Amino acid sequence: MGLDIFVTPDAEAAATAAAGLLAEAATAGGSIVLAGGSTPQRAYELAAELHSDWGDAEVWFGDDRCVSPQDPRSNQLLVRQALIDRLVVPPTVRAMATTLPPDAAAALYDAALTDEVLDLVLLGLGPDGHTASLFPDAPSLDVTDRLAVVAEPGLEPFVQRITLTIPALEAGRHVVFLSVGEGKAPAVRRAFGEEPSRLTPASLVRSRQGVTTVILDEAAASLLG
Ligand code: 6PG
Repeated sequence: MGLDIFVTPDAEAAATAAAGLLAEAATAGGSIVLAGGSTPQRAYELAAELHSDWGDAEVWFGDDRCVSPQDPRSNQLLVRQALIDRLVVPPTVRAMATTLPPDAAAALYDAALTDEVLDLVLLGLGPDGHTASLFPDAPSLDVTDRLAVVAEPGLEPFVQRITLTIPALEAGRHVVFLSVGEGKAPAVRRAFGEEPSRLTPASLVRSRQGVTTVILDEAAASLLG
């Protein structure tokens, strides 16, 4: 289906655009998949300011690191600090069980996701082209019968992760990538300006039934044709 690319002037404008989509989905009581990494933090803060009642929404995670939810490397910690703890009415949080053995945690998340309709899936983009914890040429890219699996890290932090699979992410009604900064420009070009490739996992993830939106700043978009 369609790929819409929005180029905003700077990182703050990109975060604002992503925050608007998150707040809209939360207002509608949607199931929302959130990303880790550093880029979405500002979008989460702004989304909390835009709409402080997420009581009808559910928050899921596209990936998380197998660490305690208090560990600074935890994506859940990021989401709690930047978003959930700032809300007047929090959403239902469907966190990964990151302190269990990874296989067990992935199996639990896979089961929890079965029959779940994901309205908005927010994703980041690594400089190597990874998204969620789907790394270049990794075995996880071939998984078609599971919605969540264990993934080995391809970049720092080098801890095991649990990631949604391509079929899980593609089922999202609206898939939104958020990426900023000139360091991401080559990966942005490979992910959204070239043919799909296993070497650039983000190029393999597109909403099957809905829309895929890419929100960039000018620096990240600078190598797109
Ligand atoms: C994670 C992610 C990951 C992230 C990219 C981009 O847990 O690391 O969810 O896929 O989105 O690595 O991260 P930055 O925004 O920090 O560049």
